[in-house]
Amino acid sequence: MKNKVTIVGAGMTGSTMCQLLAQKNFADIVLVDIIDGLPQGKSLDILQAGAWGRFSVDIKGTIAWEDTKDSDVVVITSGVPRKPGMTREDLLNTNAGIVESVITNAKKYSPNAKYIIFSNPMDAMCHVALNKSGLSTNQIIGQGGMLDSARYRTFLAKEAGRSVVEVNAWVLGGHTEATMVPIVSNATIGGVPLKNVLDSKTINAVVDRASKGGAEIVGLLKTGSAFVAPAFATIEMVESIVLDQKRILPACAMLNGEYGISDAFVGVPVTLGKNGIEEIHEFDLSKDELDNLQKAGAAVKELVQEIS
Ligand code: 2OP
Repeated sequence: MKNKVTIVGAGMTGSTMCQLLAQKNFADIVLVDIIDGLPQGKSLDILQAGAWGRFSVDIKGTIAWEDTKDSDVVVITSGVPRKPGMTREDLLNTNAGIVESVITNAKKYSPNAKYIIFSNPMDAMCHVALNKSGLSTNQIIGQGGMLDSARYRTFLAKEAGRSVVEVNAWVLGGHTEATMVPIVSNATIGGVPLKNVLDSKTINAVVDRASKGGAEIVGLLKTGSAFVAPAFATIEMVESIVLDQKRILPACAMLNGEYGISDAFVGVPVTLGKNGIEEIHEFDLSKDELDNLQKAGAAVKELVQEIS
């Protein structure tokens, strides 16, 4: 049987994900939206790129949930994006309703799929997805840490004058400015501890810029938020799940005592394989980092209370 991935939302983010995934050539793709014509048009355009892009997967654009039947992975990008001056938390109630409706429809046709939640505020949307679907916790995976870690790595690489692929640095915690936890204690560049490569003032400036990385792009674009780096970040997770690569990646997971946190979705290192979240890893963190991770857990619980 062929692998099948559904991407919900054919906006900039969903369609960029669709293109990247098509180029990887390992799964048929269904692109769903509620605006008739949009997913069909976008998917046909991407399908026609296969001749020169050298990919030959099937790509179907649709407004019918039946077409998503038996997906291995469903990526939920639907929802309104931020405008300048807005935080991710400002989107809470609007996007909660959208995520509830999407997961209810998608689960009917793909009860065994793994669901990657992208809609913001992502950590709270993971709670909505879990509570409204009754799926199990290994099936609900939030994307935030992949993107935030990519931003953190990019800025560290620029400061150090090194290739970004030499940087190993993680952002854990929440996907909001107040709750992101860029980890310094175990970060390395070319295997060398970060603290031996950059001075603390530079590291602090990078941590600050990475935490505000989404807002920096919203401020520049003015009409929406980032979509290219978010798409790369998400497709890396899709690949690890569908191809059962069992990579250890930062993702938002429901914690059950790990890091001293329970009943909250928080970004942590996880193994992603065909069963979704297969393992949660506990890094040795500094006391401050651990405190901040626990604060992220408390913050998401508070935010979820605000959903009306
Ligand atoms: C960002 O950080 C869209 O949340 C996403 O850019």
